[in-house]
Amino acid sequence: MTLVSLLPLLLLMCPFPTVFSVGINYGTLGNNLPSPKAVAQLLQSTLIDKVKIYDTNPQILQAFSNTGIDVIVAVENNNVANISSTKSVAEDWFSAHIAPFIPATSIVAIAVGNEYLASGDDNMDPNALVQAMQNLHEVLLSRGLDRKIKISTPHSMAVLATSFPPSASTFATILMPTMTSILTFLADTGSPFMVNAYPYFAYRDNPSTVPLEYVLLGNSSGVHDPKGYVYTNMLDAQIDAIRSAIASLGFGNQSIHIMVSESGWPSKGEPGEVAASPDNAKTYNTRLIAKAQSSKGTPMRPNEKIDIFLFALFNENKKQGGTSERNFGLFNGDGSKVYEVDLSCEFCSGSKIEFGFGPRSKTGQRGPSVWCVAKPHADEKLVQGVLDFCCGPGGVDCRDVYENGPCFGPNKVHAHASYAMNAYYQMHGRNYWNCDFKGSGLVTFSDPSYGTCKYSQQ
Ligand SMILES: *[C@@H]1O[C@H](CO)[C@@H](O)[C@H](O)[C@H]1NC(C)=O
Ligand SMILES: *[C@@H]1O[C@H](CO)[C@@H](O)[C@H](O)[C@H]1NC(C)=O
Ligand SMILES: *[C@@H]1O[C@H](CO)[C@@H](O)[C@H](O)[C@H]1NC(C)=O
Repeated sequence: MTLVSLLPLLLLMCPFPTVFSVGINYGTLGNNLPSPKAVAQLLQSTLIDKVKIYDTNPQILQAFSNTGIDVIVAVENNNVANISSTKSVAEDWFSAHIAPFIPATSIVAIAVGNEYLASGDDNMDPNALVQAMQNLHEVLLSRGLDRKIKISTPHSMAVLATSFPPSASTFATILMPTMTSILTFLADTGSPFMVNAYPYFAYRDNPSTVPLEYVLLGNSSGVHDPKGYVYTNMLDAQIDAIRSAIASLGFGNQSIHIMVSESGWPSKGEPGEVAASPDNAKTYNTRLIAKAQSSKGTPMRPNEKIDIFLFALFNENKKQGGTSERNFGLFNGDGSKVYEVDLSCEFCSGSKIEFGFGPRSKTGQRGPSVWCVAKPHADEKLVQGVLDFCCGPGGVDCRDVYENGPCFGPNKVHAHASYAMNAYYQMHGRNYWNCDFKGSGLVTFSDPSYGTCKYSQQ
């Protein structure tokens, strides 16, 4: 019996734990960043399966086609007024920037503006924001895409008048009419409320009064809310503060989900920013990933899972502001990690069990040529195990890598394993988890074939 034919049985016998997806913000304000294609490839070998970008960069949207990674795109703040002007401008914008990439690219939401209401720019008309959201939603409706693509707008925590205690929090009075319109829209369209929440900044501004563990998503002894909720970390308190503000406008009984559209921690800052260190960034982001993957909610809604997008994928050397602004990335421009965070995809093999109906259900990899190879630095023992598996129970015909075969040389375990991993990946439909191999596989767009050694291709 093959592994594949065992799967339905395994599914009955031992349901895998549900692992929720982890999102990341992919900002591009750097002059040393890898190509979008390389980025898509990098992410496919990790547990990250959602990205949020800050525009509709066509190279990025193209690169993420057929990857199984969901994408949130954005209308830049300076485009909001235009899109709000008439439905036909919104239609033109959608036709030019989104339509060419769907459905190959899985665009799941459009973020209209970014922190638009707190941008401090007098030219930003709050009514334009709501109107732009409505115009875009009508475009989606007319195309039958309103269930697949959600419209929302990310807010900063500055939209709150007070954030403490969480249960007493409200929106700034001046924003209440706009917020009421936005919340009505989100409730009507089943779209999430997006918030960019950074315990880091709260700590930076008050390091002597806020315990570090509390902001680092630790297990702090707890902050007590007068309504009885106990907060062990500030991010939960920030999310519930948003929740209370939403409820205070009368939307407490609507199922408006809160999405953390950005959160993160810098690995480097100005001399005064003592908490901006690789160690703290590693701690925060490791815990944030665990939080994103778990189904746990916050004290006010313990059973309501929160979607989380880390900020950010890369350090961005051209970003404005202080040093910390340019150092929120998990990765350097050359693709190396800024500090060690485990992004390996141990549950990707579990996700194929959920294929088609789980929260991580994915479309298969089709379209452009892709191959799977062993990561050059993957552990040799692991790679040997993968080779043995592929050529044994995996069912790959490995004669080409045996002595006298066209792929025997170079006689290296990584080379032989690459051949076998690719054959296995192609045989199983080129889903990215078919190239996971406990984190030792890498999807590539360049044909690894050489001489008479031909790597198979679907
Ligand atoms: C408004 O948006 C449309 C559609 O994308 C575009 O063709 C036009 O140039 C924009 N106008 C301004 C003033 O930005
Ligand atoms: C946090 O502390 C509580 C109570 O001491 C404990 O039950 C829980 O397991 C701890 N959680 C973590 C993540 O350490
Ligand atoms: C709203 O929810 C609260 C708490 O769950 C409940 O007590 C109240 O009756 C609800 N109100 C409406 C109008 O549904």
